Amino acid sequence: MVDLLVAHYGRLSTAPATGTASRTALEALLRKPFPPGPSDPGEVLEQLQRDVFSHTIFPNHPRHYGWIPGPGNFVGALADLLASGFNVCPTLWLEASGPTEVELVTVDWLCGLCGLAEGSGGLFVSGGTVANLTALAVARRIMLSDEVARAVVYCSDQTHTSNTKNLRILGFKADRIRKVPTDDRYRMDMAALAGAVEADRVAGKNPFCVIANAGTTNTAAVDPLEAIASFCDGAGMWMHVDAAYGGAAMLSERARTLLKGLERAHSITIDPHKWLFQPYDIGCVLVRDARWLAEAFREVPEYLQDVHTAVDPKGEVNLGDYGIQLSRSFRALKLWMSLKVFGLDAFRAAIDRGISNAERAEDLLRATDCFEVVTPAQLGIVTFRLHRPGADDETLNQLNRALIGALVADG
Ligand SMILES: Cc1ncc(COP(=O)(O)O)c(C=O)c1O
Repeated sequence: MVDLLVAHYGRLSTAPATGTASRTALEALLRKPFPPGPSDPGEVLEQLQRDVFSHTIFPNHPRHYGWIPGPGNFVGALADLLASGFNVCPTLWLEASGPTEVELVTVDWLCGLCGLAEGSGGLFVSGGTVANLTALAVARRIMLSDEVARAVVYCSDQTHTSNTKNLRILGFKADRIRKVPTDDRYRMDMAALAGAVEADRVAGKNPFCVIANAGTTNTAAVDPLEAIASFCDGAGMWMHVDAAYGGAAMLSERARTLLKGLERAHSITIDPHKWLFQPYDIGCVLVRDARWLAEAFREVPEYLQDVHTAVDPKGEVNLGDYGIQLSRSFRALKLWMSLKVFGLDAFRAAIDRGISNAERAEDLLRATDCFEVVTPAQLGIVTFRLHRPGADDETLNQLNRALIGALVADG
């Protein structure tokens, strides 16, 4: 298996970036009944290589620029192997004190990166969706004691859909979620936010939380975080920042100024499997006060009463108290290990390079007359489309769809 991976990484840059097949073709290859007895592991591996891994887009391919990256790294991949091999479960201090300490340290590194002060904390989860869910569940607990009647949440019309899904899960009906309009650069319009909050107050509602974006999925737009923080302070509201993608830009000297105000958030989502170069899956939720996590999630079942520890973030923490999952994998290991092996400066350089790549792509696109830049380079994202003078939108949409189909098909 290690040989297979080494060969894969070795030829990745010259191999196609994409591979796909129809459901019918894959059903024919893979639909089999439960295997009643053992098979040769070598043959299983061969089939995996031939029929499964050949039908995937490789997000860590050097020519893959399709969407928010999943750039992975080899040390992180081996760390995942170790985490599974040692079968580590950092749920209880008793069960995994060393791994728990590694997670606490790595979370503190991210708190520091985001500018959160002493006393902050967090947890590694499966990704941005669950990090946002965890943060919003904490906000509901701390701000509302879980009573959602009359409560209203504000986000922009560019906010990732995981947040609306999560709010639904948490008991907020659609009429309790306000989608605030954005300006010409897709940033939350502050006057519209203030107007919506005021109108809700007058109508007897309870505005309690703003979800701000630090790097939207569509265009990497960053909401005016400083202004939102001051607004939330003044209005007594919770500020959650979805920095799932953009948070990593705190490592970049030139991009960091865009994120000013992130450090004033009550909670933050940042995803190492997006722009901190980790293999799927690893997201992270951070909160200004680590004790809030236990306040929102802690339950002490009878069978664990003897291993339960006091809720002191400085003490011997049971991470199972900090989030939705009880049994959980040692996700922190891949980030901790690759940060130690490569060093933070390597991550900083890679992020700066991503930003430069987006800027260079924009220059190249502007130098041709067949592409139109839709939004300029920001963080690592530039959006564009194939353009034909005089063509209407419907024709252009068809052209662009055909272009994407052709790109995927030829790898
Ligand atoms: C800004 C933002 N938030 C949240 C998510 C959801 O993250 P995940 O897919 O890891 O659940 C994404 C995914 O692209 C995202 O871009």
